[in-house]
Amino acid sequence: MKNVRLPAHIKPERYQLTIKPDLEGFVFEGEETISLRLEKSVSEITLHAKELNIVFASFKPSPQPSPRGGGGKTVLPKKISYDEKEETATFIFGKSLPKGTGEVRLKFKGILNDKMRGFYRSRYNHQGKEKYMATTQFEATDARMAFPCFDEPAHKAVFDITLMVPQGLTAISNTLPVTNPHPNPLPEGEGREQETLSIPISVEREGVTEHQSGYNIVKFQPTPKMSTYLVAFIIGDFEFIQGKTKNNVLVRVFVTPGKKHQAKFALDTAIKCLEFYNNYFGIPYPLPVLDLIAIPDFSHGAMENWGAVTYRESALLVDPENSSASNKQWVALVIAHELAHQWFGNLVTMQWWTHLWLNEGFASYIEYLATDHIFPEWDVWTQFAFNDLGAALKLDSLKNTHPIEAEVRHPDEIGEIFDDISYSKGASVIRMLAGFLGEKDFRAGLRYYLKKYSYSNASTADLWAAFEKVSGKPVRKMMQNWTGKPGYPVLRVIEEKDRLILKQSRFFSSEVSKKKSEDKTLWSNPIKIADSQGKVKNNLMISKTLSLTLPHRGRGTAQWTKFNFGETGFYRVDYSAQMLENLKAPIRNKKLGAIDRLAIIRDAFALSEAGELPTAQALNLLSAYENETDYTVWVELCGGLASLRNLLYGQNCYPKFEQFCQKVLVKIGAEVGWRAKKGESHTRGLLRSLILGQLAVFNHQPTLNRGLSLAKKYKKIPADIRGVIYQIIGRQRGKKQHRAFISKYKNETLSEEQNRLGRALGQFADVKLLKKTLEFALSKEVRIQDTAQIFASVWNNPLGKNIAWEFTKKNWPMLLKRYPASGHILNRFIKSAASFVTVKETKDFANFFKKHKAPGAERAIQQVLEKIYGSGAWLKRDGKHIENWLIRQNN
Ligand code: BES
Ligand code: ZN
Repeated sequence: MKNVRLPAHIKPERYQLTIKPDLEGFVFEGEETISLRLEKSVSEITLHAKELNIVFASFKPSPQPSPRGGGGKTVLPKKISYDEKEETATFIFGKSLPKGTGEVRLKFKGILNDKMRGFYRSRYNHQGKEKYMATTQFEATDARMAFPCFDEPAHKAVFDITLMVPQGLTAISNTLPVTNPHPNPLPEGEGREQETLSIPISVEREGVTEHQSGYNIVKFQPTPKMSTYLVAFIIGDFEFIQGKTKNNVLVRVFVTPGKKHQAKFALDTAIKCLEFYNNYFGIPYPLPVLDLIAIPDFSHGAMENWGAVTYRESALLVDPENSSASNKQWVALVIAHELAHQWFGNLVTMQWWTHLWLNEGFASYIEYLATDHIFPEWDVWTQFAFNDLGAALKLDSLKNTHPIEAEVRHPDEIGEIFDDISYSKGASVIRMLAGFLGEKDFRAGLRYYLKKYSYSNASTADLWAAFEKVSGKPVRKMMQNWTGKPGYPVLRVIEEKDRLILKQSRFFSSEVSKKKSEDKTLWSNPIKIADSQGKVKNNLMISKTLSLTLPHRGRGTAQWTKFNFGETGFYRVDYSAQMLENLKAPIRNKKLGAIDRLAIIRDAFALSEAGELPTAQALNLLSAYENETDYTVWVELCGGLASLRNLLYGQNCYPKFEQFCQKVLVKIGAEVGWRAKKGESHTRGLLRSLILGQLAVFNHQPTLNRGLSLAKKYKKIPADIRGVIYQIIGRQRGKKQHRAFISKYKNETLSEEQNRLGRALGQFADVKLLKKTLEFALSKEVRIQDTAQIFASVWNNPLGKNIAWEFTKKNWPMLLKRYPASGHILNRFIKSAASFVTVKETKDFANFFKKHKAPGAERAIQQVLEKIYGSGAWLKRDGKHIENWLIRQNN
């Protein structure tokens, strides 16, 4: 692949940018002056531009003292040439421009697209009328779709943004308008008025268009020095609520009309969160304002634009009556994540996308710290062990993974690394390091790093150097292979007379993958060991083996040893059969904490899949969880059962498996019941909907019956169990109900509720209805951002798997068009196929993607294939044994 980097000797310093959207014709016009520095004399200037029509360009060198400087005279380019592939425009001047500073002036036109990228339009309804707003999504490389710019993270500059705003609409950007220099907040809810400038733009700077009527001009204060991907401008009909932090930062939450009552939770959380980070990082948030804006059409969950963070509605809005505890928690975590970026990412930015994980891994770690601080009773750190650590261990066990620091150049490649490696493995290795350094040094290292690189850029090595400086520990050496190499180790425990030997080697999710690899990488593993004597010991394993003398170790079953105590290390542990047996007691009597209990079953299942442990042994271990009540441990247990369900569905033994799963779940099901008890914990509520949902999945008839009868009884089903009840209804009802769900979906204004309905539409037990669901998912009634999860729900339904696949194949060209390149949404369609098991399915999948292109999803295809091959091998190896084991259980 060609190098698509801009030359380093042209440095932008300031952009004066005016943008005028046309919300009826869905186009926009812009005008900009880029002040820049030429570090040597050039005859061409190349910058990024994509799908823009540049109608005017000139260069004016700054006046220079030297007589031969030739400064001050405006030069017009002989030619403007575009390179579509590289997404650049080059101004060819045909003579050399002098070294030094100068100004590029440009006028351009573009399309206000509906692809949720660059400068785009989003649709909403107000009082029965269809309306549009204009908004931006620039990360990673789409600022170039809105204005010509040096669109690389290290080209930081100041932005003076002016927006031409159709009268009656609100404009939001990274800073506050200049006419409102100090936040002198308007009274609550009166955010629709904007100050206007009296100078018409056409007088001030050779107008953008002839007629300015119907527009107000809103000029924003200059931004701090920042990267292009963090610029934002949003124009629409908004309402807002607001508050202030202790440091006097104005915090506002913007929503489309009629949704103001759903903004309160976000506002409170954002204020607390900002105060937490101010204190934690020791650097005050530098802008006078922080806006959080709910955008109806939004490709990701949220985007951290400096001072103007955008969210999809379901990631920001909490409806007091209709939002579940789980959605509320999601909102808090997303807010905490994006606000962390205001420092980690916005103030200090990665040098290049190779170091994307510095942004995403760090934010994915610290979001838990902040959320835990604000909502300690939510126990989010335990959930981290599943959401992030577990997810990363899964993806990183494939041969087709990639190192955290991945070499990327093309926008498609950059898009591909926004995955569980950059996010969750990144977060996990940060957590490992935090555990190793201790809270004090960890925080001091962060503060040092943030201070040193403020308004500038940094790389992975710079972060390690900062920690090394404050701690005096060899951080760089220790972390090198964690971020530089793919994969992670499994530690095999070998018992000798008076010693335990640990041996590390790279872990693969399947024997198929393992056979293909000769990886000899060694990792530095912090080893924390807890034992039945109540002792906790620390070690650092840096070589292939580590020998441990453990005094007073007897042979009795009362003796146990848990490695990776607290699960701060990023590895799996393969215990000897006896040691695993001995761990049952501390799981059962909860001498081990939730995270450690979770890890033991997680690794057992992973080792079974990999062919390192008979699946029957992992299943045996389940009996130790009879008394389990922890939410996250149950999430893990259910995950294990789900992969077996996928493996065994359609096999002879499936009914027996179903019976077995019911048995595993029924006790905890009775304990949580259907009704929330007064004063019960947050996680109890989460546990209830998880367990009832699983009982339904495994066709537990009493649960299915009860769900239906409750549905009739409630006037309004409590939000926490509404998803489960919809799912239960779907499973047991037909055409009429399907139609009812669809009509409810169409009329619903709460995105979270639509998502619940959409998922239920995938759960019907009738192939015809599932086909209808797929068609609906691609209809105009469903926003492009929401299609994939409805699809996934159909795919997840064993009856729907093949239908979803056939549908995908048939509609591939259309899907490609609807979800254009760097398509993480496309990725999500493809990833559903990881549930394939049989040889026939595998071949079909492989053949299809030999013939069809999937830009930005190539790695995902390889990952899915690898996963399917692994499942096939697992079933072949262990299917019969599992069946025998099940027969023994049920007799
Ligand atoms: N910076 C990302 C948004 C993003 C993702 C932009 C991919 C471009 C490509 C943002 O900080 C983010 O990570 N959002 C997450 C939610 C978060 C809570 C994990 C998302 O959108 O899924
Ligand atoms: Zn992020």
